[in-house]
Formats: sequence, C-alpha cells, structure tokens
Amino acid sequence: MGASLVPARVHRTHPILFSCVLAITVISLWCARHILHDAWTLATMPMIWPRHSKTFFLSAEVDGFDLTFANYSTDQVSAAPFEDRVPPVLHHISLGSGAAEHSKWASVRQSCIDIHPGWEAMIWTDETSDAFVAEHFPDLHDMWTTYRFPIQKVDALRYMVLYHYGGVILDMDLQCKRALGPLRRFEFVAPAAHPTGFSIGFMMASKRSEFVGKLVGNLRRYNKHWIWLPYPTVMFSTGCHYASTIHAFQSNRSELKILAGTKENPKLHNLNGPVSTPIFNHLGSSSWHSFDAAMITSVGRHLSWLLPFFLMGGVGGAFCVIRRTRRRRTGKAEQWAF
Ligand SMILES: *[C@@H]1O[C@H](CO)[C@@H](O)[C@H](O)[C@H]1NC(C)=O
Ligand SMILES: *[C@@H]1O[C@H](CO)[C@@H](O)[C@H](O)[C@H]1NC(C)=O
Repeated sequence: MGASLVPARVHRTHPILFSCVLAITVISLWCARHILHDAWTLATMPMIWPRHSKTFFLSAEVDGFDLTFANYSTDQVSAAPFEDRVPPVLHHISLGSGAAEHSKWASVRQSCIDIHPGWEAMIWTDETSDAFVAEHFPDLHDMWTTYRFPIQKVDALRYMVLYHYGGVILDMDLQCKRALGPLRRFEFVAPAAHPTGFSIGFMMASKRSEFVGKLVGNLRRYNKHWIWLPYPTVMFSTGCHYASTIHAFQSNRSELKILAGTKENPKLHNLNGPVSTPIFNHLGSSSWHSFDAAMITSVGRHLSWLLPFFLMGGVGGAFCVIRRTRRRRTGKAEQWAF
C-alpha cells in the first residue's frame, strides 16, 4: 500500500491548523488586494511600457511627424492643417520654497511666453493653486494639502491643471527654442524618459483628456508611503513612475503620444539633466532640485527596480511562515530554528 509516511496523529491535527493558516492568508491577501494590485502595476510597468510602442511613440512612419522639427518653422503655433486639440495655454508651477528659487528663472519662463504670442500664460502659486484645487477638485483637496513632500503637490497639481484647462505644462527651467504648434494635434504628448516611461516636466493635453482624468482619478489610490522611503513614495504616488504606470495600462495608447527619438538618436527629446533638444534647452534646475530633492534623489534612482523583490520577499516570507508552522506541528521545528 502506498501508505503515508506521516504519522496518523499529524493527519488529524494538521488539517485544522493548515486550514486556519490558509484562511488567514487568503483573508490577508483579500484585504490587501488593492495595494497588491497597485504595487504589481508599479512593479511591472517597465515590462509593460514598451508594448505596442509603435502606436504611441511619435514617428514619421505612423504620424508623418518630423521628430527633428527641422521641417517646421520655429514660430509655428498651430498644428494646421491638422485640428488643434491642445488649447493655447502655458502653465508654470511655482509653489512653496520653490517660488523664491523660481524668480531666478523668470527670463527662462518668458522665453516660452514670447515664442507663443497670444497664448494665455498662467503661473500657479500657493494661493492660486490652493483655491483652484478647493474649487475644482474638492474631494482631493484634503489629500493634496497634506501630501508629505512638496514635490507631490506640484506633480498632482500638474495633472489637475492639465485636466481642467488643457494646454502645456512646463517646468520653470525649460527654455523654449521653438513654438509647440506642431504637437497640438494630439490628445496628449510627453517626452520619453530613460530607461522607461515619460517625464512630467513637460506635458501637453487637450482639455478634459480622458487619460489626464485618469492621472487625477488614481492619485488617491496610489497615495501610499511606498516602501516607507521618500524617493519611491514620490515616484510611485505622483511622479513619473506613477504617470507612466497609468499610461502603460491603458488599453489603447495610440493618442497618448510619447516624444522619443529617431533611430539615429534615440534620446533626442530626453530631458534628463542639462541638455538641449530640438524644442528646449533644459537648464538643469528641475523642480526636483528646487524642492526636497537633494535628499530624495540621493536615496537612489533605482529603488523602483527593487519593488518586485520586496513583493517576492513578502510572498516568500508568508510561505516560510506557513511552512514553519506546518513543520513545527509535525515535530520537525528544530530543523528550521534560527
Ligand atoms: C521633411 O521635409 C522633407 C522635404 O520636404 C521631406 O522629404 C520629408 O519627408 C519631411 N519629413 C517628415 C518627417 O515629414
Ligand atoms: C485605438 O484608437 C485609435 C484612434 O482613437 C483607433 O484608430 C485604433 O483603431 C484603436 N486601436 C485599437 C487596437 O483599438
């Protein structure tokens, strides 16, 4: 007979305990399902991101778009003959301690205003943004005012302003080399980031874009102290990684354009560090640096890549606890003693 090697006594007590542990595990997983799901989306974004990238990476082949901008006049403020989907509004955000710093960048901001004559130019300060959020996003106002890091307020405000007014969001340190007219034909445009996702220091969108609405609508969900560290908390709750995750999980991304590069120069429009692209000079004091950035960035840009390991560690840990409990009941605990 293929009889069990386990003593009969274990067979009697063991199933009850095992069922309890299993039930507790299932209940815990059920209770944590939202955070597990959100952590999972954040962790897998780098893998999901490149899917169907041909449809949403701006290109000459699919969109007939000249990524070098050489074919467009520097003062082209409209997408004509295409329809202008992005309204002619420029937004700059200057909150908290960043405001003093930003006065230095007034001339840089002015370069973008000058190159878009007739466009509305809005600057968001502590007072105007607080009134704006209270009026238009009352449900998010409490959360918004109590964000732990000022940069989270800035990032969340980008999405809210872009949703409500549409237009162009620009970091204060972006100097415009040409008008953004050719890009106005798309629902949403942002520059690619390296190695995945997009940067949120420059974004264009139509008014009440469905996608930007999702960037606003998911803020509460992702507002967690991720891994209890500042950098992942900012990146995963409001920053580039958050926005790129929402983008990556849209079913049809073909209207949510990412401004990347050409085959010859894949980083043509990358805004990391002080660089010059066909449309901007990035003068290097991104809003990161104006706020609590020094501390946050020093924690390490690559921490986001560790999230899958934290997750696996958690699941592995839970598994070990179950195993330990089972072993102890079968009288073999000493083999597992630490
Ligand atoms: C740019 O203009 C040239 C000459 O008119 C044309 O051959 C080329 O296809 C254009 N490129 C794009 C991407 O539109
Ligand atoms: C995605 O949307 C575009 C336009 O909005 C449409 O032309 C295209 O067929 C859609 N793609 C898929 C796979 O549904």
